[in-house]
Amino acid sequence: MTIADEDLINAAMEARGQAYCRYSGFSVGAAIIDDQDRLHVGCNVENAAYPLGNCAETAAIAAMVQKGGKRIARIAVAGGRADIATCTPCGGCRQRIKEFADEKTVVIVYDDSNEWRQYLITELLPASFHLD
Ligand code: THU
Repeated sequence: MTIADEDLINAAMEARGQAYCRYSGFSVGAAIIDDQDRLHVGCNVENAAYPLGNCAETAAIAAMVQKGGKRIARIAVAGGRADIATCTPCGGCRQRIKEFADEKTVVIVYDDSNEWRQYLITELLPASFHLD
């Protein structure tokens, strides 16, 4: 039985609660449903040497790969502040998601305004770079 979008968003919100974001104060959580209908989560982890921080999507993808997941069916990203910006995945994370995506991969974005939007990865990263 596949996990409902609301539950996927809740998993991303729960992961967001673990974010280590002492420099930006911008917490993000991500939750993935993989090709075997399994859930993987991650949060952003910052560092005093700023460029070394990792995005939540990156952490969730790493968790999926470590468990043998091959494809992202859906990914929910919870983060951002309604007064600043919705946390649509950054450019680098779009490319990271694309690496494990197919044309049906859905990206759900949820922010403090309690609204969520849904995109196809092909909408977020058209004409993407690939090697195969
Ligand atoms: N961040 C994410 O985790 N995912 C994104 O797609 C965009 C940005 C994090 C990185 C950094 O820790 C904080 O949000 C502010 O940029």
